[in-house]
Amino acid sequence: MENRICVYPGSFDPVTHGHLDIIGRVSRLFPEIRVAVLDNPDKEKVFTVDERMAMLKKACAHLPNIKIDSYSGLLVDYMRSIDAGFVVRGLRSASDFEAEFQMAQMNSQLSETMESLFLMTSPQYAYISSGIVRQIASFGGDISAFVPACILQEVNKRFRSK
Ligand code: PNS
Repeated sequence: MENRICVYPGSFDPVTHGHLDIIGRVSRLFPEIRVAVLDNPDKEKVFTVDERMAMLKKACAHLPNIKIDSYSGLLVDYMRSIDAGFVVRGLRSASDFEAEFQMAQMNSQLSETMESLFLMTSPQYAYISSGIVRQIASFGGDISAFVPACILQEVNKRFRSK
């Protein structure tokens, strides 16, 4: 089968255990996974694209078939540029489904070849989001249960210096 590259796109601001759950599980399904950070100049992020990619590299170091990348513009264009046939997203809830359904339908209009796949987030991570992690960290709360240990110090440091 061709186009066996699967892209896992997102903001990853910062990467959480929820993201790593999806990455670990999809890494068993495809020979090559690209975890792709959206470089969107319109959106204010806590971490730069380079910082987010570096944190992902650390957190995924144990998985040999994961490459960390970034893209700007349309996801379908990035996928064409690397000849990727599949995109995966995690679903935590019905509200995720609504947004993801719209995005998948839109992407299928923009690309006939791209196939969108969804993995249900494992129940123990279903309540985690990068946004909630940022909020807790910004108030000095303990985020150690939500982000990988290898990036914990860096995330905490960023919020302490704000
Ligand atoms: O982690 P996020 O913020 O939920 O990820 C959303 C993301 C980055 C996957 C999505 O917004 C995206 O790929 N945007 C790029 C622009 C694009 O392709 N838009 C058309 C599809 S809706």
